[in-house]
Amino acid sequence: MRILLIGPPGAGKGTQAVRLAAHLSIPHISTGDLFREHIDQGSELGRNAHAHLRAGRLVPDDVTIGVIEERLARPDTEAGFLLDGFPRNRAQAEALDGLLADSGSKLDAVLELEIPEAEVVERIAGRRLCRQGRDHIFHVDYSPPAAPGVCDVCGGELYQRDDDREATIRKRLEVYRSETTPVVDHYQAQGVVTAISAVGQVQEVLDRALIAIGHRRDDASGV
Ligand code: AP5
Repeated sequence: MRILLIGPPGAGKGTQAVRLAAHLSIPHISTGDLFREHIDQGSELGRNAHAHLRAGRLVPDDVTIGVIEERLARPDTEAGFLLDGFPRNRAQAEALDGLLADSGSKLDAVLELEIPEAEVVERIAGRRLCRQGRDHIFHVDYSPPAAPGVCDVCGGELYQRDDDREATIRKRLEVYRSETTPVVDHYQAQGVVTAISAVGQVQEVLDRALIAIGHRRDDASGV
């Protein structure tokens, strides 16, 4: 399946994407994670992207589309993929349509995570990430690690993203409203959008997402 998760910063896209991708055995592709990898590696792309991430602005389209084009060309995407954080404006959505059309494919589903802004601010402010595993996501109150500051999965150090500060969160929400909500309209016109509530326990949201794409959670799969 080719799936896109869309929703405001902190809605739980990454949290759900890890579980959905494991359930469907498809790669989870997050442009935010790809940029953070480049930043950690100190690549030129990473150095250019860093200022945009810190300010809560979108990285320029030519850079972002190039990163996604390269990622979607890898063989592990042949059976499908789950996009998280791309596309984020109309130009990116049109570029993705073109890339998919070139390979004779299309998106099967766009899942729009709906959540009140007050809740996302709380989620982002308490988020802690692992330096060793980008998919290891914690929250100081909602999913705290057993030992403060230490990842339960791999023992790595937990840290707070430098764009998870109050002023930057407000800017990211503003960018979401002005630039990314038109992407939902773009896919609504293609008839592939299902809106699901992102409020509630992680497993409840996962169940809603799976039902929306015609699957059920298999407890044995561990997701
Ligand atoms: P990106 O990394 O994509 O960030 P984002 O979209 O702002 O989303 P977040 O990662 O903040 O949140 P999320 O929805 O994944 O929530 P999470 O699961 O972590 O992008 C960062 C930056 O990169 C952008 O600002 C931009 O600069 C650049 N960029 C990226 N893509 C780009 C593009 N296409 N074009 C241009 N620039 C781009 O959950 C949040 C917290 O809530 C966690 O602590 C989690 O434990 C907790 N939580 C999750 N679910 C629940 C629940 N059900 N109940 C309680 N707590 C929960």
